[in-house]
Amino acid sequence: MKRILLVVLLLLVFVSVATAQITQPSTDILGAHLNYGRGCAACHSPHSGAAGNGNSGSANTGNSILWGEDVTGLYGKTITTGGGKYVEVLPASMSATTPDVSGMLTCLGCHDGNFAPASMMKNKVYENLPATYGNRNTIPTLMASAGGGSYISDHPMGLNATIDCGGTSGWDCTEVNGAINMRGSASSRFVTSYGFFVQPGVYNNKAVVVCTTCHNPHSMNVVTVGRNSNSGLPAGNYATMFFLRAPYNPNDTNPMSNQTAQFCRQCHADKSNEMNGSTAGTTF
Ligand code: HEC
Ligand code: HEC
Ligand code: HEC
Ligand code: HEC
Repeated sequence: MKRILLVVLLLLVFVSVATAQITQPSTDILGAHLNYGRGCAACHSPHSGAAGNGNSGSANTGNSILWGEDVTGLYGKTITTGGGKYVEVLPASMSATTPDVSGMLTCLGCHDGNFAPASMMKNKVYENLPATYGNRNTIPTLMASAGGGSYISDHPMGLNATIDCGGTSGWDCTEVNGAINMRGSASSRFVTSYGFFVQPGVYNNKAVVVCTTCHNPHSMNVVTVGRNSNSGLPAGNYATMFFLRAPYNPNDTNPMSNQTAQFCRQCHADKSNEMNGSTAGTTF
């Protein structure tokens, strides 16, 4: 009897350890993009693109960044973001030279729930979300799987979603061949207190918004500020979530932290402190 009890107890311990392992966020910076153990090769196939990775679809997917997921179902599809104002026709192949190839087709290969087979995604969130968010594991990570496959309620994206300097809503920055220099008096103050971490794509010499402008698929929860970073923050590692490229920690214990708002202000200058006469900087 005692022995059976012990076995049951041991089993219970084993089960709880196993669940803890599955639900704890990984400390590996790839995080959720470890892709259930497949690692880098889930996205980059060393040989023959998607075909070499055991996925169906054209071997040509590997023509750019050795892409190893089948994205052929997304070729040429139109997605409309930002309330219907930003129409994006996805590239017709991985060999196209526009920034939406590596910046959008790639992500949607796994994150689109409409045209793509939703390859490896299990529609779960990996990080421990703040209590103010929806329930953990119920945040949708299959884009366009609800709402009839529409992207209409998604942030503006694609070759028509340009980031502009000046005007009524832009920073006092300058743009040269699609590269944005945050050197105006307000924009340089913003960069000193936060930074310009986003990486716009360049199309027709204009800076445009693609998924990888905001997200870095290689690092889920850490942003490193070093000597070459376009940021005046002290060098070091900053917390982020959701693979975002800039400090973004809604779990910050300081309820007055404005870092998540600062993230959006990298492009939305008219909503910044610097452009509205406030001396507030970034608070962590
Ligand atoms: C979830 C998918 C995904 C995973 C997993 C992934 N990558 Fe990437 N990788 C991308 C995407 C997308 C790009 C293109 C980024 C862009 O254009 O902004 C890229 C670009 C690259 C590049 C070329 C550009 C650069 O940033 O240097 C290299 C090299 C690279 N990845 C290596 C790796 C290695 C090594 C691993 C594993 C440690 C890895 N990747 C894991 C999606 C992924
Ligand atoms: C090989 C498939 C694959 C590709 C390609 C891919 N992802 Fe993911 N991503 C996943 C999986 C799996 C998860 C975990 C969530 C899930 O299972 O639904 C995830 C989760 C995420 C999350 C949520 C992180 C969290 O808190 O759980 C974000 C944000 C994300 N991916 C962004 C991107 C972006 C941006 C790209 C393109 C640069 C990309 N992904 C490309 C498979 C992929
Ligand atoms: C303008 C910046 C921006 C762009 C462009 C962007 N995202 Fe995000 N994304 C965010 C932010 C910010 C969050 C975290 C929101 C929060 O705090 O809940 C997020 C969250 C996510 C999540 C996790 C939560 C969820 O709702 O599923 C996924 C997956 C994701 N993004 C994928 C993508 C993909 C794929 C693309 C391109 C098709 C993309 N994102 C383009 C800023 C962006
Ligand atoms: C990489 C630059 C960039 C970042 C970062 C960014 N945006 Fe935007 N946002 C744009 C661009 C470009 C547009 C379209 C042009 C415009 O309205 O200024 C836009 C438009 C919008 C719109 C108007 C959408 C519509 O339907 O007209 C909203 C709302 C918005 N963004 C919210 C946010 C929020 C919230 C964040 C942070 C989570 C954010 N943005 C981060 C570039 C960005």
